[in-house]
Amino acid sequence: MAMESLRQFVVALSAAAAVGFVSIIFVLRWVLHYKEGLAWDGGLAEFNWHPVLIVTGFIFLQGIAIIVYRLPWTWQCSKLLMKFIHAGLNLVAFIFAVIAMVAVFDFHNAAKIPNMYSLHSWLGLMVVTLYCLQLVLGVGMYLIPVTPVSWRAAFMPLHVYSGLLLFSSAIAVALMGITEKLIFGLSNPKYKDSPPEAIFVNILGVLLVVFGALILWIATQTSWKRPTDQTLHTLHSNGGGEDNTKVGPALSQLSDGDDAEASGDVRRRNNKLDD
Ligand code: HEM
Ligand code: HEM
Repeated sequence: MAMESLRQFVVALSAAAAVGFVSIIFVLRWVLHYKEGLAWDGGLAEFNWHPVLIVTGFIFLQGIAIIVYRLPWTWQCSKLLMKFIHAGLNLVAFIFAVIAMVAVFDFHNAAKIPNMYSLHSWLGLMVVTLYCLQLVLGVGMYLIPVTPVSWRAAFMPLHVYSGLLLFSSAIAVALMGITEKLIFGLSNPKYKDSPPEAIFVNILGVLLVVFGALILWIATQTSWKRPTDQTLHTLHSNGGGEDNTKVGPALSQLSDGDDAEASGDVRRRNNKLDD
């Protein structure tokens, strides 16, 4: 990655990380300061786990999982290791989302509030269900060694598209949930009277949109993409004078699937060439 491009990447990444952290602080301050705190007691404090786990897990961790391949300082690491990190972070995000679902269903059942009546809940459950499917297909396609390379390559555009769609949808669903909760929860003064809690939580909503925008930006810049192992190989052999016979045509085929677990020396990069 050229120096200027690297600088821009670091700015975008730092901004995303900062906005993500501030969002987590905001959701914690909302439930701990303005609301009933956190507990697992069937009451409102149990409900509060719902937004906290969604923002920290399903939004923040998922966002980080999506961009881990883009971190230039991981490009010397094996693709397999990065896949484990990507899949692992997505799995943790999913577990957070499931616990967040359990918290709200448990609270509704204890308080005799009907389940699944709102658009928020319909779309929310859809997103979590499809996210689970994305995880299973991701493992099946990219972690199980027997999956044909041609399948991996063919499925990749769909994997990336559905991943970005799910991430964006999670943020949209969270915004609906935030709005619902403010309307239900604020009575004196009401939401329309703009009490401090309303302003504070509206800002949380804006932060989530900005976080989403930054992650989507990072994940869609082609110049910040992890080079395929084929490219790394070319850089390596051009710069280092290695012979090409170490990796045969099989590797270049693999690279189409963005998925080569090539030998360590292919991955060692020639940094001079990259600047
Ligand atoms: C309820 C999912 C984010 C507030 C629900 C329910 C689901 C769900 C499935 C229905 C529970 C039931 O019927 O018993 C999601 C998903 C989210 C998300 C997938 C993120 C992607 C949020 C956030 C808030 C929130 C950030 C903010 C406080 C609520 C409220 C309810 C609820 C107030 C109860 C009313 C209703 O069922 O619509 N959520 N939620 N949600 N959620 Fe969320
Ligand atoms: C790439 C999302 C699960 C393997 C991507 C990208 C997204 C994404 C948005 C594009 C990233 C980029 O262009 O830099 C998701 C989501 C998942 C998930 C939301 C979970 C619900 C998995 C799993 C695996 C996997 C379980 C299994 C290892 C890959 C691979 C790439 C990728 C190999 C290509 C990376 C590259 O070469 O640049 N994923 N993914 N994903 N994902 Fe996933």
